Amino acid sequence: MSKKFYITTPLYYVNDVPHIGHSYTTVAADVLARYKRLAGEDVFFLTGTDEHGQKIERAAKERNETPKQLADRVVENFKGLWTRLNISNDDFIRTTEERHKKAVTAFFLKLYEKGDIYRGKYEGWYCIPCETYCPEGQVEDQKCPSCGRQLEWLEEDGYFFRMSAYESELLDYLNKNPEFIMPENRRQEIINIIKGGLKDLNISRATFDWGIPVPVSDKNEIIYVWFEALINYITAAGYMEDEEENPAPVSGGHENIHPRIQNPESRIQNPESASNGQKRFEKLWPADVHIIGKDILKFHTIIWPTMLIAAGLKLPKMVVAHGWWTVNGKKMSKSSGNAIDPDDIITQVGVDGYRYFLLKAVPFGQDGDFSQEALIRRVNSDLANDLGNLVTRTIAMVIKYFDGKIPSAQKEGDNPLKDLALQIVPIVDKAMCHLEFHNALSSIWELIGECNRYVDKKAPWVLFKEGKTDELSSVLYNLLESIRFITILVSPFIPWIAEAIWTHLGIERPLDEQMLSDLEWGRLQKDGRVIPTVQPIYARIQENG
Ligand code: MSP
Repeated sequence: MSKKFYITTPLYYVNDVPHIGHSYTTVAADVLARYKRLAGEDVFFLTGTDEHGQKIERAAKERNETPKQLADRVVENFKGLWTRLNISNDDFIRTTEERHKKAVTAFFLKLYEKGDIYRGKYEGWYCIPCETYCPEGQVEDQKCPSCGRQLEWLEEDGYFFRMSAYESELLDYLNKNPEFIMPENRRQEIINIIKGGLKDLNISRATFDWGIPVPVSDKNEIIYVWFEALINYITAAGYMEDEEENPAPVSGGHENIHPRIQNPESRIQNPESASNGQKRFEKLWPADVHIIGKDILKFHTIIWPTMLIAAGLKLPKMVVAHGWWTVNGKKMSKSSGNAIDPDDIITQVGVDGYRYFLLKAVPFGQDGDFSQEALIRRVNSDLANDLGNLVTRTIAMVIKYFDGKIPSAQKEGDNPLKDLALQIVPIVDKAMCHLEFHNALSSIWELIGECNRYVDKKAPWVLFKEGKTDELSSVLYNLLESIRFITILVSPFIPWIAEAIWTHLGIERPLDEQMLSDLEWGRLQKDGRVIPTVQPIYARIQENG
Protein backbone atom coordinates (compact mmCIF):
# COMPACT_ATOMS: atom_id res chain seq x y z
CA MET A 1 0.00 0.00 0.00
CA SER A 2 1.41 3.38 -0.88
CA LYS A 3 2.22 5.96 1.72
CA LYS A 4 -0.47 8.59 2.31
CA PHE A 5 0.31 12.28 2.12
CA TYR A 6 -2.22 14.72 3.51
CA ILE A 7 -1.58 18.35 2.59
CA THR A 8 -3.69 21.43 3.29
CA THR A 9 -3.89 25.13 2.49
CA PRO A 10 -5.52 27.61 4.87
CA LEU A 11 -9.19 28.23 4.31
CA TYR A 12 -9.58 31.60 2.64
CA TYR A 13 -11.92 34.23 4.02
CA VAL A 14 -14.77 35.00 1.68
CA ASN A 15 -14.95 38.71 2.44
CA ASP A 16 -12.56 39.45 -0.39
CA VAL A 17 -11.72 38.21 -3.86
CA PRO A 18 -8.52 36.17 -4.21
CA HIS A 19 -5.26 38.02 -4.88
CA ILE A 20 -1.76 36.73 -5.55
CA GLY A 21 -1.08 36.26 -1.83
CA HIS A 22 -3.84 33.66 -1.58
CA SER A 23 -2.83 32.00 -4.80
CA TYR A 24 0.76 31.70 -3.55
CA THR A 25 -0.24 29.35 -0.71
CA THR A 26 -2.44 27.28 -2.99
CA VAL A 27 0.03 27.04 -5.86
CA ALA A 28 2.78 25.96 -3.48
CA ALA A 29 0.53 23.29 -1.98
CA ASP A 30 -0.44 22.14 -5.45
CA VAL A 31 3.16 21.80 -6.55
CA LEU A 32 3.98 19.69 -3.52
CA ALA A 33 0.83 17.58 -3.94
CA ARG A 34 1.73 16.91 -7.58
CA TYR A 35 5.30 16.08 -6.65
CA LYS A 36 4.17 13.60 -4.00
CA ARG A 37 1.87 11.93 -6.53
CA LEU A 38 4.87 11.64 -8.81
CA ALA A 39 6.68 9.97 -5.93
CA GLY A 40 3.88 7.40 -5.82
CA GLU A 41 2.28 8.64 -2.61
CA ASP A 42 -1.44 8.51 -1.98
CA VAL A 43 -2.10 12.23 -1.83
CA PHE A 44 -5.07 13.95 -0.25
CA PHE A 45 -4.92 17.67 -1.00
CA LEU A 46 -7.41 19.92 0.76
CA THR A 47 -8.31 23.54 0.29
CA GLY A 48 -11.46 25.56 0.94
CA THR A 49 -13.07 28.66 2.40
CA ASP A 50 -13.53 30.14 5.87
CA GLU A 51 -17.05 31.54 5.83
CA HIS A 52 -18.08 32.42 9.39
CA GLY A 53 -17.20 35.23 11.78
CA GLN A 54 -17.77 38.88 12.40
CA LYS A 55 -15.63 40.04 9.51
CA ILE A 56 -17.73 38.10 6.99
CA GLU A 57 -20.93 39.21 8.66
CA ARG A 58 -19.88 42.88 8.43
CA ALA A 59 -18.73 42.54 4.84
CA ALA A 60 -22.10 41.06 3.93
CA LYS A 61 -23.97 43.84 5.68
CA GLU A 62 -21.99 46.46 3.77
CA ARG A 63 -23.09 44.80 0.54
CA ASN A 64 -26.70 44.32 1.61
CA GLU A 65 -26.44 40.57 1.42
CA THR A 66 -26.76 37.80 3.95
CA PRO A 67 -23.42 36.27 4.96
CA LYS A 68 -24.41 33.05 3.23
CA GLN A 69 -25.19 34.90 0.00
CA LEU A 70 -21.82 36.60 0.19
CA ALA A 71 -20.07 33.28 0.82
CA ASP A 72 -21.93 31.52 -2.00
CA ARG A 73 -20.90 34.24 -4.38
CA VAL A 74 -17.27 34.69 -3.37
CA VAL A 75 -16.54 30.98 -3.03
CA GLU A 76 -17.03 30.77 -6.79
CA ASN A 77 -14.20 33.25 -7.30
CA PHE A 78 -11.85 30.98 -5.40
CA LYS A 79 -13.03 27.81 -7.10
CA GLY A 80 -12.83 29.43 -10.51
CA LEU A 81 -9.33 30.70 -9.91
CA TRP A 82 -8.15 27.32 -8.66
CA THR A 83 -9.50 25.69 -11.81
CA ARG A 84 -7.73 28.24 -14.01
CA LEU A 85 -4.52 27.80 -12.05
CA ASN A 86 -4.71 24.04 -12.59
CA ILE A 87 -4.94 23.29 -8.89
CA SER A 88 -5.32 19.56 -8.25
CA ASN A 89 -7.14 19.58 -4.92
CA ASP A 90 -8.92 16.37 -3.94
CA ASP A 91 -11.45 18.13 -1.77
CA PHE A 92 -12.79 21.64 -1.20
CA ILE A 93 -14.29 22.35 2.20
CA ARG A 94 -16.55 25.24 3.16
CA THR A 95 -16.98 25.87 6.85
CA THR A 96 -20.71 26.38 6.34
CA GLU A 97 -21.13 22.75 5.29
CA GLU A 98 -23.05 20.35 7.50
CA ARG A 99 -20.12 17.92 7.77
CA HIS A 100 -18.04 20.68 9.33
CA LYS A 101 -20.74 21.76 11.74
CA LYS A 102 -21.05 18.17 12.87
CA ALA A 103 -17.32 17.77 13.47
CA VAL A 104 -17.01 21.12 15.27
CA THR A 105 -19.96 20.39 17.53
CA ALA A 106 -18.58 16.97 18.45
CA PHE A 107 -15.11 18.38 19.04
CA PHE A 108 -16.48 21.13 21.29
CA LEU A 109 -18.54 18.67 23.30
CA LYS A 110 -15.58 16.36 23.74
CA LEU A 111 -13.48 19.12 25.29
CA TYR A 112 -16.41 20.44 27.30
CA GLU A 113 -17.15 17.05 28.80
CA LYS A 114 -13.49 16.64 29.65
CA GLY A 115 -13.50 19.94 31.52
CA ASP A 116 -11.20 21.65 29.02
CA ILE A 117 -13.90 24.14 28.10
CA TYR A 118 -15.36 26.18 30.93
CA ARG A 119 -17.40 29.34 31.37
CA GLY A 120 -15.73 32.63 32.23
CA LYS A 121 -15.60 36.30 31.44
CA TYR A 122 -13.54 37.96 28.73
CA GLU A 123 -12.46 41.57 28.68
CA GLY A 124 -10.00 42.75 26.15
CA TRP A 125 -9.12 43.95 22.69
CA TYR A 126 -10.23 42.23 19.51
CA CYS A 127 -9.17 42.73 15.90
CA ILE A 128 -11.99 42.01 13.49
CA PRO A 129 -9.92 41.89 10.27
CA CYS A 130 -7.60 39.32 11.89
CA GLU A 131 -10.44 37.75 13.92
CA THR A 132 -8.08 37.62 16.86
CA TYR A 133 -7.83 38.56 20.53
CA CYS A 134 -4.91 40.85 21.30
CA PRO A 135 -3.15 40.64 24.67
CA GLU A 136 -3.28 44.04 26.36
CA GLY A 137 0.47 44.23 26.86
CA GLN A 138 0.94 44.20 23.07
CA VAL A 139 -1.59 46.91 22.26
CA GLU A 140 -0.55 50.47 21.54
CA ASP A 141 -3.00 53.23 20.55
CA GLN A 142 -5.79 50.67 20.27
CA LYS A 143 -4.15 49.32 17.10
CA CYS A 144 -3.76 45.63 16.22
CA PRO A 145 -0.14 44.55 16.80
CA SER A 146 -0.36 42.31 13.75
CA CYS A 147 -2.18 44.35 11.06
CA GLY A 148 -2.16 47.83 12.58
CA ARG A 149 -5.89 48.37 12.27
CA GLN A 150 -8.31 49.73 14.87
CA LEU A 151 -9.17 47.30 17.69
CA GLU A 152 -12.52 46.90 19.41
CA TRP A 153 -12.97 46.46 23.15
CA LEU A 154 -14.89 43.29 24.09
CA GLU A 155 -16.58 42.49 27.35
CA GLU A 156 -18.32 39.18 27.05
CA ASP A 157 -19.27 36.24 29.18
CA GLY A 158 -18.21 33.18 27.33
CA TYR A 159 -16.58 29.81 27.06
CA PHE A 160 -12.87 29.37 27.47
CA PHE A 161 -10.56 26.67 26.19
CA ARG A 162 -8.04 25.62 28.83
CA MET A 163 -5.06 26.20 26.54
CA SER A 164 -2.72 26.99 29.41
CA ALA A 165 -2.93 23.37 30.57
CA TYR A 166 -1.08 22.19 27.47
CA GLU A 167 1.88 24.52 27.47
CA SER A 168 4.48 22.00 28.54
CA GLU A 169 3.13 19.22 26.33
CA LEU A 170 3.31 21.53 23.36
CA LEU A 171 6.85 22.61 24.17
CA ASP A 172 7.82 19.00 24.55
CA TYR A 173 6.39 18.19 21.13
CA LEU A 174 8.25 21.10 19.57
CA ASN A 175 11.51 19.95 21.11
CA LYS A 176 11.07 16.38 19.98
CA ASN A 177 9.93 17.34 16.48
CA PRO A 178 12.27 20.01 15.17
CA GLU A 179 10.65 19.86 11.73
CA PHE A 180 7.18 20.63 13.08
CA ILE A 181 7.59 24.34 12.36
CA MET A 182 9.42 25.52 9.29
CA PRO A 183 11.41 27.61 8.64
CA GLU A 184 13.64 27.36 11.68
CA ASN A 185 13.55 31.08 12.63
CA ARG A 186 9.78 30.93 12.88
CA ARG A 187 10.07 27.92 15.14
CA GLN A 188 12.16 29.92 17.60
CA GLU A 189 9.61 32.72 17.55
CA ILE A 190 6.85 30.30 18.55
CA ILE A 191 8.95 28.60 21.22
CA ASN A 192 9.56 32.01 22.81
CA ILE A 193 5.87 32.81 22.80
CA ILE A 194 4.99 29.51 24.45
CA LYS A 195 7.74 29.95 27.03
CA GLY A 196 6.26 33.36 27.81
CA GLY A 197 3.12 31.54 28.99
CA LEU A 198 -0.12 30.49 27.34
CA LYS A 199 -3.41 31.94 28.50
CA ASP A 200 -6.79 30.27 28.20
CA LEU A 201 -8.62 31.24 25.05
CA ASN A 202 -12.07 32.75 24.79
CA ILE A 203 -13.81 30.55 22.21
CA SER A 204 -17.33 31.90 22.05
CA ARG A 205 -18.95 35.10 20.85
CA ALA A 206 -22.31 36.49 21.85
CA THR A 207 -22.69 39.82 20.04
CA PHE A 208 -23.43 38.44 16.58
CA ASP A 209 -24.65 35.14 15.28
CA TRP A 210 -22.85 34.21 12.06
CA GLY A 211 -21.18 31.02 13.18
CA ILE A 212 -21.66 27.54 14.55
CA PRO A 213 -23.74 27.57 17.76
CA VAL A 214 -22.07 26.66 21.04
CA PRO A 215 -23.72 23.28 21.62
CA VAL A 216 -23.99 23.67 25.39
CA SER A 217 -25.39 27.19 25.44
CA ASP A 218 -28.98 28.40 25.35
CA LYS A 219 -27.90 32.00 24.88
CA ASN A 220 -27.40 32.26 21.12
CA GLU A 221 -23.64 32.08 21.45
CA ILE A 222 -21.47 30.96 18.59
CA ILE A 223 -18.04 29.39 18.48
CA TYR A 224 -15.03 31.70 17.88
CA VAL A 225 -14.21 31.52 14.19
CA TRP A 226 -10.58 30.41 14.51
CA PHE A 227 -11.36 27.64 16.99
CA GLU A 228 -14.01 26.45 14.57
CA ALA A 229 -12.15 26.90 11.28
CA LEU A 230 -9.03 25.00 12.34
CA ILE A 231 -11.18 21.93 12.89
CA ASN A 232 -11.77 21.78 9.12
CA TYR A 233 -8.52 19.86 8.74
CA ILE A 234 -10.00 16.93 10.64
CA THR A 235 -13.54 17.38 9.29
CA ALA A 236 -12.31 16.80 5.77
CA ALA A 237 -10.20 13.85 6.85
CA GLY A 238 -13.33 12.04 8.03
CA TYR A 239 -13.52 12.95 11.73
CA MET A 240 -17.09 12.25 12.80
CA GLU A 241 -18.05 10.88 9.42
CA ASP A 242 -20.63 8.10 9.88
CA GLU A 243 -20.31 4.62 8.48
CA GLU A 244 -23.41 5.06 6.32
CA GLU A 245 -22.43 8.54 5.29
CA ASN A 246 -20.96 9.10 1.88
CA PRO A 247 -17.30 10.03 1.87
CA ALA A 248 -16.99 13.67 2.68
CA PRO A 249 -16.13 14.99 -0.79
CA VAL A 250 -19.48 13.94 -2.19
CA SER A 251 -21.31 16.28 0.15
CA GLY A 252 -19.07 19.28 -0.48
CA GLY A 253 -18.57 21.58 -3.42
CA HIS A 254 -16.25 19.31 -5.28
CA GLU A 255 -16.95 20.09 -8.87
CA ASN A 256 -13.70 21.97 -8.47
CA ILE A 257 -11.64 18.82 -8.17
CA HIS A 258 -9.13 18.52 -10.94
CA PRO A 259 -10.06 15.84 -13.47
CA ARG A 260 -6.53 15.03 -14.65
CA ILE A 261 -5.54 13.77 -11.24
CA GLN A 262 -8.48 11.48 -10.71
CA ASN A 263 -7.13 8.00 -10.54
CA PRO A 264 -9.87 5.88 -9.03
CA GLU A 265 -7.34 3.21 -8.12
CA SER A 266 -5.14 5.44 -6.08
CA ARG A 267 -7.56 7.95 -4.59
CA ILE A 268 -8.02 7.68 -0.91
CA GLN A 269 -11.68 8.42 -1.21
CA ASN A 270 -12.87 5.63 -3.40
CA PRO A 271 -16.23 4.30 -2.22
CA GLU A 272 -14.92 1.09 -0.64
CA SER A 273 -12.11 2.61 1.34
CA ALA A 274 -14.26 5.53 2.46
CA SER A 275 -17.36 3.65 3.53
CA ASN A 276 -16.14 3.94 7.06
CA GLY A 277 -15.34 7.51 8.03
CA GLN A 278 -13.35 6.52 11.05
CA LYS A 279 -11.10 4.28 9.00
CA ARG A 280 -10.55 7.09 6.56
CA PHE A 281 -9.68 9.39 9.43
CA GLU A 282 -7.24 6.90 10.89
CA LYS A 283 -5.55 6.63 7.55
CA LEU A 284 -5.38 10.34 6.80
CA TRP A 285 -4.74 11.93 10.15
CA PRO A 286 -2.35 13.48 11.16
CA ALA A 287 -1.83 15.86 8.28
CA ASP A 288 1.63 15.65 6.76
CA VAL A 289 1.84 19.36 6.11
CA HIS A 290 -0.22 22.47 6.65
CA ILE A 291 1.02 25.19 4.30
CA ILE A 292 0.17 28.66 5.58
CA GLY A 293 1.36 32.26 5.52
CA LYS A 294 3.51 33.61 8.34
CA ASP A 295 0.64 35.76 9.67
CA ILE A 296 -1.35 32.74 10.78
CA LEU A 297 1.44 30.69 12.26
CA LYS A 298 0.44 31.17 15.89
CA PHE A 299 -3.03 29.83 15.23
CA HIS A 300 -1.59 26.73 13.60
CA THR A 301 1.26 26.03 15.96
CA ILE A 302 -0.18 27.07 19.32
CA ILE A 303 -3.96 27.04 19.29
CA TRP A 304 -4.43 24.14 16.87
CA PRO A 305 -1.96 21.70 18.45
CA THR A 306 -3.20 22.40 21.97
CA MET A 307 -6.75 21.75 20.78
CA LEU A 308 -5.60 18.46 19.30
CA ILE A 309 -3.71 17.45 22.44
CA ALA A 310 -6.81 18.21 24.50
CA ALA A 311 -8.90 16.06 22.17
CA GLY A 312 -6.39 13.21 22.32
CA LEU A 313 -5.59 13.48 18.63
CA LYS A 314 -2.22 13.39 16.91
CA LEU A 315 -0.48 16.60 15.91
CA PRO A 316 0.26 17.54 12.30
CA LYS A 317 3.73 16.54 11.20
CA MET A 318 4.71 19.87 9.75
CA VAL A 319 3.49 23.45 9.52
CA VAL A 320 5.30 25.53 6.94
CA ALA A 321 4.94 29.30 6.95
CA HIS A 322 5.73 31.20 3.80
CA GLY A 323 6.48 34.90 3.60
CA TRP A 324 4.34 37.71 2.29
CA TRP A 325 4.10 39.31 -1.11
CA THR A 326 4.15 43.07 -1.07
CA VAL A 327 3.73 45.55 -3.92
CA ASN A 328 6.33 48.30 -4.02
CA GLY A 329 7.15 47.42 -0.43
CA LYS A 330 3.54 47.87 0.73
CA LYS A 331 1.15 45.33 2.12
CA MET A 332 -1.31 44.18 -0.49
CA SER A 333 -4.98 44.66 0.17
CA LYS A 334 -8.14 45.47 -1.68
CA SER A 335 -8.72 48.53 0.47
CA SER A 336 -5.33 50.01 -0.45
CA GLY A 337 -6.14 49.32 -4.08
CA ASN A 338 -2.81 47.62 -4.73
CA ALA A 339 -3.90 43.98 -4.72
CA ILE A 340 -2.57 42.13 -7.73
CA ASP A 341 -5.32 40.28 -9.54
CA PRO A 342 -4.11 36.80 -10.49
CA ASP A 343 -6.21 36.86 -13.65
CA ASP A 344 -4.34 39.90 -14.98
CA ILE A 345 -1.07 38.04 -14.57
CA ILE A 346 -2.44 34.84 -16.03
CA THR A 347 -3.60 36.77 -19.09
CA GLN A 348 -0.15 38.22 -19.44
CA VAL A 349 2.20 35.29 -18.79
CA GLY A 350 -0.10 32.26 -18.81
CA VAL A 351 -0.94 29.89 -15.99
CA ASP A 352 2.42 28.20 -15.96
CA GLY A 353 4.35 31.44 -16.23
CA TYR A 354 2.50 32.61 -13.15
CA ARG A 355 2.99 29.38 -11.20
CA TYR A 356 6.67 29.31 -12.12
CA PHE A 357 7.30 32.90 -11.15
CA LEU A 358 5.63 32.60 -7.74
CA LEU A 359 7.82 29.72 -6.68
CA LYS A 360 11.05 30.73 -8.38
CA ALA A 361 11.17 34.42 -7.58
CA VAL A 362 11.28 34.19 -3.79
CA PRO A 363 12.66 31.49 -1.48
CA PHE A 364 9.66 29.95 0.26
CA GLY A 365 9.54 31.39 3.76
CA GLN A 366 10.89 34.81 2.81
CA ASP A 367 8.95 37.91 1.86
CA GLY A 368 9.00 39.11 -1.71
CA ASP A 369 8.09 42.25 -3.54
CA PHE A 370 6.03 41.84 -6.68
CA SER A 371 7.31 43.54 -9.78
CA GLN A 372 5.95 43.38 -13.27
CA GLU A 373 9.41 43.76 -14.80
CA ALA A 374 10.85 40.93 -12.72
CA LEU A 375 7.93 38.69 -13.69
CA ILE A 376 8.43 39.20 -17.41
CA ARG A 377 12.20 39.03 -17.25
CA ARG A 378 12.01 35.77 -15.33
CA VAL A 379 9.55 33.92 -17.57
CA ASN A 380 11.26 35.11 -20.75
CA SER A 381 14.66 34.03 -19.61
CA ASP A 382 13.83 30.74 -17.90
CA LEU A 383 10.80 29.47 -19.79
CA ALA A 384 11.07 30.99 -23.28
CA ASN A 385 14.87 31.02 -23.62
CA ASP A 386 16.39 28.29 -21.48
CA LEU A 387 13.71 25.63 -21.51
CA GLY A 388 11.73 26.53 -24.62
CA ASN A 389 14.72 26.91 -26.91
CA LEU A 390 16.36 23.74 -25.65
CA VAL A 391 13.29 21.69 -26.51
CA THR A 392 12.59 23.40 -29.82
CA ARG A 393 16.11 23.11 -31.17
CA THR A 394 16.60 19.54 -29.97
CA ILE A 395 13.36 18.38 -31.60
CA ALA A 396 14.24 20.30 -34.77
CA MET A 397 17.64 18.58 -34.97
CA VAL A 398 16.15 15.11 -34.46
CA ILE A 399 13.74 15.83 -37.30
CA LYS A 400 16.44 17.25 -39.54
CA TYR A 401 19.15 14.65 -38.95
CA PHE A 402 17.12 11.51 -38.16
CA ASP A 403 13.85 12.22 -39.85
CA GLY A 404 12.19 12.47 -36.41
CA LYS A 405 13.21 8.99 -35.28
CA ILE A 406 14.59 8.90 -31.74
CA PRO A 407 18.28 8.03 -32.25
CA SER A 408 19.88 5.37 -30.13
CA ALA A 409 22.78 6.00 -27.79
CA GLN A 410 25.83 4.69 -29.64
CA LYS A 411 28.77 5.80 -27.66
CA GLU A 412 29.48 4.90 -24.09
CA GLY A 413 32.01 6.99 -22.22
CA ASP A 414 31.93 10.45 -20.74
CA ASN A 415 28.39 11.63 -20.45
CA PRO A 416 28.05 14.87 -18.49
CA LEU A 417 24.31 15.09 -19.08
CA LYS A 418 23.67 11.63 -17.74
CA ASP A 419 25.84 12.34 -14.69
CA LEU A 420 24.13 15.62 -13.92
CA ALA A 421 20.61 14.30 -14.58
CA LEU A 422 21.13 11.46 -12.14
CA GLN A 423 22.80 13.74 -9.66
CA ILE A 424 19.97 16.29 -9.49
CA VAL A 425 17.16 13.80 -8.86
CA PRO A 426 17.94 13.30 -5.13
CA ILE A 427 18.83 16.98 -4.76
CA VAL A 428 15.46 18.03 -6.16
CA ASP A 429 13.79 15.45 -3.93
CA LYS A 430 15.42 16.80 -0.81
CA ALA A 431 14.56 20.38 -1.73
CA MET A 432 10.93 19.44 -2.41
CA CYS A 433 10.57 17.57 0.87
CA HIS A 434 11.83 20.71 2.65
CA LEU A 435 9.58 22.94 0.54
CA GLU A 436 12.57 24.71 -0.92
CA PHE A 437 10.86 25.13 -4.27
CA HIS A 438 13.29 27.71 -5.61
CA ASN A 439 16.20 25.35 -4.89
CA ALA A 440 14.46 22.48 -6.63
CA LEU A 441 13.92 24.71 -9.67
CA SER A 442 17.51 25.94 -9.63
CA SER A 443 18.77 22.35 -9.78
CA ILE A 444 16.48 21.51 -12.67
CA TRP A 445 17.60 24.67 -14.46
CA GLU A 446 21.20 23.67 -13.89
CA LEU A 447 20.52 20.63 -16.05
CA ILE A 448 18.72 22.76 -18.63
CA GLY A 449 21.71 25.11 -18.74
CA GLU A 450 24.10 22.21 -19.06
CA CYS A 451 22.06 20.82 -21.97
CA ASN A 452 22.18 24.16 -23.76
CA ARG A 453 25.94 24.39 -23.29
CA TYR A 454 26.26 20.78 -24.50
CA VAL A 455 24.49 21.65 -27.75
CA ASP A 456 26.85 24.56 -28.32
CA LYS A 457 29.91 22.51 -27.45
CA LYS A 458 29.01 19.40 -29.43
CA ALA A 459 27.70 21.42 -32.38
CA PRO A 460 25.53 18.63 -33.86
CA TRP A 461 25.41 20.51 -37.20
CA VAL A 462 29.20 20.03 -37.51
CA LEU A 463 28.95 16.33 -36.57
CA PHE A 464 26.31 15.98 -39.26
CA LYS A 465 28.45 17.74 -41.86
CA GLU A 466 31.42 15.56 -41.01
CA GLY A 467 29.33 12.42 -41.23
CA LYS A 468 29.93 11.44 -37.58
CA THR A 469 26.54 9.77 -37.33
CA ASP A 470 27.26 7.66 -34.25
CA GLU A 471 28.37 10.61 -32.21
CA LEU A 472 25.52 12.75 -33.50
CA SER A 473 23.12 10.00 -32.54
CA SER A 474 24.50 9.86 -28.99
CA VAL A 475 24.44 13.62 -28.57
CA LEU A 476 20.80 13.89 -29.57
CA TYR A 477 19.87 10.86 -27.54
CA ASN A 478 21.47 12.41 -24.46
CA LEU A 479 19.61 15.63 -25.03
CA LEU A 480 16.25 13.91 -25.48
CA GLU A 481 16.82 11.75 -22.45
CA SER A 482 17.73 14.82 -20.39
CA ILE A 483 14.61 16.57 -21.62
CA ARG A 484 12.60 13.56 -20.47
CA PHE A 485 14.11 13.95 -16.98
CA ILE A 486 13.52 17.69 -17.01
CA THR A 487 9.92 17.33 -18.13
CA ILE A 488 9.02 14.88 -15.37
CA LEU A 489 10.72 17.05 -12.76
CA VAL A 490 9.13 20.33 -13.86
CA SER A 491 5.68 18.83 -14.29
CA PRO A 492 4.48 19.67 -10.75
CA PHE A 493 5.43 23.32 -11.31
CA ILE A 494 4.36 23.92 -14.89
CA PRO A 495 1.98 21.12 -15.77
CA TRP A 496 0.72 22.50 -19.11
CA ILE A 497 4.16 23.22 -20.47
CA ALA A 498 5.35 19.81 -19.32
CA GLU A 499 2.43 18.18 -21.16
CA ALA A 500 3.32 20.06 -24.31
CA ILE A 501 6.95 18.99 -24.15
CA TRP A 502 5.93 15.42 -23.44
CA THR A 503 3.84 15.36 -26.62
CA HIS A 504 6.89 16.36 -28.64
CA LEU A 505 8.96 13.58 -27.14
CA GLY A 506 6.52 11.14 -28.72
CA ILE A 507 6.37 8.91 -25.65
CA GLU A 508 3.26 6.78 -25.62
CA ARG A 509 2.77 6.44 -21.88
CA PRO A 510 1.17 9.71 -20.73
CA LEU A 511 3.04 12.11 -18.52
CA ASP A 512 0.57 11.80 -15.68
CA GLU A 513 1.40 8.11 -15.42
CA GLN A 514 5.09 8.80 -14.99
CA MET A 515 6.71 8.40 -11.59
CA LEU A 516 9.95 9.51 -10.05
CA SER A 517 11.02 5.89 -10.41
CA ASP A 518 10.98 6.44 -14.19
CA LEU A 519 13.96 8.71 -13.74
CA GLU A 520 16.45 6.06 -14.70
CA TRP A 521 18.81 6.92 -17.49
CA GLY A 522 18.11 5.07 -20.74
CA ARG A 523 14.37 4.63 -20.45
CA LEU A 524 13.51 6.89 -23.36
CA GLN A 525 11.19 5.01 -25.66
CA LYS A 526 13.43 3.34 -28.24
CA ASP A 527 11.17 3.10 -31.27
CA GLY A 528 9.55 6.50 -30.79
CA ARG A 529 9.40 9.50 -33.07
CA VAL A 530 9.47 13.08 -31.94
CA ILE A 531 6.62 15.37 -32.95
CA PRO A 532 7.59 18.68 -34.62
CA THR A 533 6.95 21.86 -32.68
CA VAL A 534 4.71 24.28 -34.52
CA GLN A 535 4.52 26.84 -31.76
CA PRO A 536 7.10 27.89 -29.24
CA ILE A 537 7.04 25.88 -26.01
CA TYR A 538 6.67 29.18 -24.21
CA ALA A 539 6.12 32.30 -26.28
CA ARG A 540 8.24 35.29 -25.27
CA ILE A 541 6.34 38.09 -23.59
CA GLN A 542 6.65 41.62 -24.91
CA GLU A 543 8.95 43.38 -22.43
CA ASN A 544 7.03 46.57 -21.90
CA GLY A 545 3.51 45.68 -22.77
N1 MSP B 1 -9.24 32.26 7.20
C1 MSP B 1 -7.92 32.35 7.70
C2 MSP B 1 -7.23 31.01 7.67
C3 MSP B 1 -7.96 29.91 8.39
S1 MSP B 1 -7.16 28.39 8.25
C4 MSP B 1 -8.07 27.36 9.16
C5 MSP B 1 -7.10 33.35 6.86
N2 MSP B 1 -7.58 33.61 5.64
S2 MSP B 1 -6.97 34.67 4.63
O1 MSP B 1 -7.80 34.61 3.47
O2 MSP B 1 -6.84 35.94 5.27
O3 MSP B 1 -5.52 34.25 4.32
C6 MSP B 1 -5.27 32.99 3.79
C7 MSP B 1 -3.83 32.82 3.39
O4 MSP B 1 -3.45 33.78 2.41
C8 MSP B 1 -2.86 32.97 4.54
O5 MSP B 1 -1.94 31.90 4.51
C9 MSP B 1 -2.15 34.26 4.25
O6 MSP B 1 -0.85 34.26 4.73
C10 MSP B 1 -2.17 34.28 2.74
N3 MSP B 1 -1.97 35.62 2.26
C11 MSP B 1 -2.86 36.65 2.26
N4 MSP B 1 -2.22 37.75 1.79
C12 MSP B 1 -0.93 37.47 1.51
C13 MSP B 1 0.12 38.14 0.87
N5 MSP B 1 0.04 39.41 0.54
N6 MSP B 1 1.24 37.43 0.57
C14 MSP B 1 1.32 36.10 0.80
N7 MSP B 1 0.34 35.43 1.37
C15 MSP B 1 -0.69 36.13 2.01
O7 MSP B 1 -6.10 33.81 7.31
